[in-house]
Amino acid sequence: MNYRHAYHAGNFADVIKHAILALCIEHLKAKATPFRVIDTHAGIGVYDLQSEAAQKTGEWQDGIGRVVDAVLPSEISELLLPYLQCVEALKAFKRRHVYPGSPEIARYLTRAEDRMIFVEKHPQDAKKLAENFAFDGRAKVLELDGYLAAKAYVPPKERRGLVIIDPPYEERDEFERLYYAFVDAYRKWPTGMYLLWYPVKNRDETKRFMVSLAEAGIPKILRAELRVKAVTEQGGLAGSGLMIINPPWKLADELRVLLPWLDGVLKQGEGHGWNVDWLAGEAAVSTS
Ligand SMILES: C[S@@+](CC[C@H](N)C(=O)[O-])C[C@H]1O[C@@H](n2cnc3c(N)ncnc32)[C@H](O)[C@@H]1O
Repeated sequence: MNYRHAYHAGNFADVIKHAILALCIEHLKAKATPFRVIDTHAGIGVYDLQSEAAQKTGEWQDGIGRVVDAVLPSEISELLLPYLQCVEALKAFKRRHVYPGSPEIARYLTRAEDRMIFVEKHPQDAKKLAENFAFDGRAKVLELDGYLAAKAYVPPKERRGLVIIDPPYEERDEFERLYYAFVDAYRKWPTGMYLLWYPVKNRDETKRFMVSLAEAGIPKILRAELRVKAVTEQGGLAGSGLMIINPPWKLADELRVLLPWLDGVLKQGEGHGWNVDWLAGEAAVSTS
């Protein structure tokens, strides 16, 4: 396990993922009944953008750095409000260059009655994660394999909530592992919301993933993808996306406003672009 999220925290892929996660949590809060957020690949939860790791890549400057410097039209500031409030609150509480990971976004936005499970396999990162959230009794931190946890911890006793699966894609079979972990979890809890993160590096790989999901017989799958540049043979990270299973009502419409704006702000070169479409349900697009 070589991947450390500290090198990438706040980059363009984090912005898209975290803004969508925040919107999904806000939608869950529309009902008074409690829910649970299960984050299977949680990282350490809070990142110092002035750390040696973050400085080395400087990736956050083309991610959250660009968003906080941009002028936000009113409909965009409304859609980004939960995410940016969390970013701002953490900076005010800690210090300027601190950025929230997915666990902190969940912690900040959830209510007293909601619960969280954060899973991390890397022993050092799991230890930091546990330290970072020890003060909040609503959050349970587990040092475990997130793919196993996805199945083991659903359905949560609240019977409402979301599972975010956000692997590092270090291993060649990581798309397959994510797919099978998700399908196993979905069979146990078909009404849960699931957010499956994927990188856009290689078109064939992404396509295979989309086709297998589209053919899994799952009624509602929304794809939200943003590419900041063209996919090349060298295979660097050209974009990223989330497959959102059982998305909140209205999310697709909101993302069709948000993603074009993010596309304009985060683009890095030719070949940039975005998609928000249904792999299954509503008016599903063809994956062929
Ligand atoms: C992309 S990072 C997570 C970032 C985090 N979700 C966020 O948005 O702030 C992926 C994390 O998964 C961890 N990881 C890798 N393999 C894992 C596994 N099998 N189970 C759980 N965690 C794993 C890595 O150590 C890394 O911290």
